[in-house]
Amino acid sequence: MAPSQSSATEVVDIHTHMYPPPYITLLRSRTTVPYIRDIPDLGPRLIILPDEVATGRPIGPAYWDVGEKLKFMDTHDINTSVVSLANPWLDFISDPEEGTRLAREVNDWFEKTCAESGGRLYFFGVLPMRAGVDAICEEVKRLKALKYSRGVVMGTTGMGDGPDDKKFEEVWAAIEETEAMVFLHPHYGLPNDVFGPRSGEYGHVLPLALGFPLETTIAVTRMILSGVFGRFPELKMLLAHSGGTLPFLAGRIQSCIEHDGSFRKGEGKSLNVWDILKKNIYLDAVVYSAIGLKAATEAVTSDRVMFGTDHPFFPPLGEETKWVSVQTNYNAIEEGFKDEDSIKVLGKNAVEVLSLKH
Ligand code: URA
Ligand code: ZN
Repeated sequence: MAPSQSSATEVVDIHTHMYPPPYITLLRSRTTVPYIRDIPDLGPRLIILPDEVATGRPIGPAYWDVGEKLKFMDTHDINTSVVSLANPWLDFISDPEEGTRLAREVNDWFEKTCAESGGRLYFFGVLPMRAGVDAICEEVKRLKALKYSRGVVMGTTGMGDGPDDKKFEEVWAAIEETEAMVFLHPHYGLPNDVFGPRSGEYGHVLPLALGFPLETTIAVTRMILSGVFGRFPELKMLLAHSGGTLPFLAGRIQSCIEHDGSFRKGEGKSLNVWDILKKNIYLDAVVYSAIGLKAATEAVTSDRVMFGTDHPFFPPLGEETKWVSVQTNYNAIEEGFKDEDSIKVLGKNAVEVLSLKH
């Protein structure tokens, strides 16, 4: 809990993941990335990135057991969580039938689990991103009818060619029509060679600290430049990790648009990044510093920034029950905001924006 947070303050975690049991079964059955395997002396390991094949990351019940999720919430004074499937979602399932079936199975599991949680859990559903436009749109519409669904989680690749792919516009149309929030989350980072020949010596720091946020920034900037927000003006995008570097770079992106003669004459004629930030973009508060959080809030206003934890990622390295990663984000809110704004960011915004009932 943040030092000045009263026990009556409603806390909602909008960035928190699970791998439901059917997904875990799938990962355990695979031998290529992504997969789970037991490594001698290390135990079960999650291998979701090509460069982590040697050791992977530890994985345990926090990833799939709802009891563990609720325990984590209680330990960290979190009233309500909006859970989402973690990366890489269903992006690697190329068979349309399998993707469609798994999306339904995972989403139905989330719906049932949320229904049994006594009002503590809601979810962002997953889409079968390689199953074709019709299957994706059908799942968008099916999710709308599920009581605990509050939108969709997706990576940055769209159907394979990214979120500015013209073929993806039917999906944006379906999402806009159903008023679903899109939780845009990174997975692929940047090509490993940008991190240099010594990158292997630095663990996962460079891909997670820099690759992830830049991936998100690039994806949403591509959407902006392609005019998606002009054609689908009611789209609502919740960006992971406070928008990557978008709040910091928005001015530069806008300036580059205005100084690009040929782009400005065409697609970029009336683009205004700041307007899009304040109309279409929501940011989580998973940025681990008051400075980053202030930039996020300045960019989108304090009505559109929402607390998150990224659980079960970034657990403490020791045996601590309170997670430093969570406390760091609580501290940033405490340090960065006056009382009224911190109440909004901790939970009030999420309750209003995502219509969470209490
Ligand atoms: N690492 C991941 O792979 N995903 C997250 O969401 C956070 C860290
Ligand atoms: Zn995450």
